[in-house]
Amino acid sequence: MAQDIPVSDLTPEMITRCELVDVQGVPLPTSTADLWDQIWSFQARPDDVLICTYPKAGTTWIQEITDMIQQDGDAQKCSRAPIYQRIPFLELCPPRPLATGFEEAEAMPPPRTLKTHLPIKLVPPSFWEQDCKVIYVARNPKDTAVSYYHFQRMNRGLPDPGNWDLYLETFLAGKVPWGSWFDHVNAWWDARDTHRILYLFYEDIKKDPRGEIRKVGRFLDRELPEPVLEGIVQHTSFESMRENPMANYKTLPSFIMDQAMSPFMRRGTVGDWTTQFTVAQSERFDSEWARRLEGSDLRFRTRL
Ligand code: A3P
Repeated sequence: MAQDIPVSDLTPEMITRCELVDVQGVPLPTSTADLWDQIWSFQARPDDVLICTYPKAGTTWIQEITDMIQQDGDAQKCSRAPIYQRIPFLELCPPRPLATGFEEAEAMPPPRTLKTHLPIKLVPPSFWEQDCKVIYVARNPKDTAVSYYHFQRMNRGLPDPGNWDLYLETFLAGKVPWGSWFDHVNAWWDARDTHRILYLFYEDIKKDPRGEIRKVGRFLDRELPEPVLEGIVQHTSFESMRENPMANYKTLPSFIMDQAMSPFMRRGTVGDWTTQFTVAQSERFDSEWARRLEGSDLRFRTRL
């Protein structure tokens, strides 16, 4: 296993904007594609919980909610490490000698909670063999695209997004890291009754955090007495998480995530896309969306 050096030992020269490589039709960072066989053969355990999202769907938010539930609402325990260490990112393969996400997971005592952005067809089969619980969060594609654009600008390990007009086409074509949003949300939606999948929506958590957190608690067989639930709602609000160094990624050096360019906790709203899309872009997006999800009963709210 790679030596797990602290992320602060990384140097700017180690971080470069990655290329994307096709893995079974899905563009993934080269470093992930290079170790694909090891990722695919990852051994899940029956008590693993897998958090799965398309990038920018509110992954960090559901991670913090899940950890708070698992720690019975104890915010001190959730401050034990940054979110990316508490919940390893399975297919992340940072520069050596840092450990990969799957190596971090392997070194972790059970019960483990893990994060992935993989489309369902690329999830290592052991998760299904072990009948693991999966929490999936989907977010409307317009806010997702805007959030991803700003994230690719500030994250120096991801491809440069170019300008917004260009990026929107790249996003619609599914030529962004982890591929097509349409394929991702749709395939996970279709599988929700086949496996133990709790399928949630960013917009619902925003509208009714209390109700959605309760849902996650039930799914994880956790009692959430009223004061605990209230504490989790407070601790996982956008305003709290923005100030929380264990959740806002400010523990990473600026040559990895340049938060002066765009903060990780950027807006945290539903409908921010209206500040970025032109009317023509919105119309074009809507028609492509209707075409790509034709026949599906999967619905999203783009405003609250
Ligand atoms: P914006 O860029 O629209 O602000 P991910 O964790 O999947 O990378 O998603 C990041 C997005 O989730 C960002 O969206 C971020 O602001 C938002 N987010 C993170 N924590 C949140 C919270 N507690 N409430 C609402 N949105 C949150």
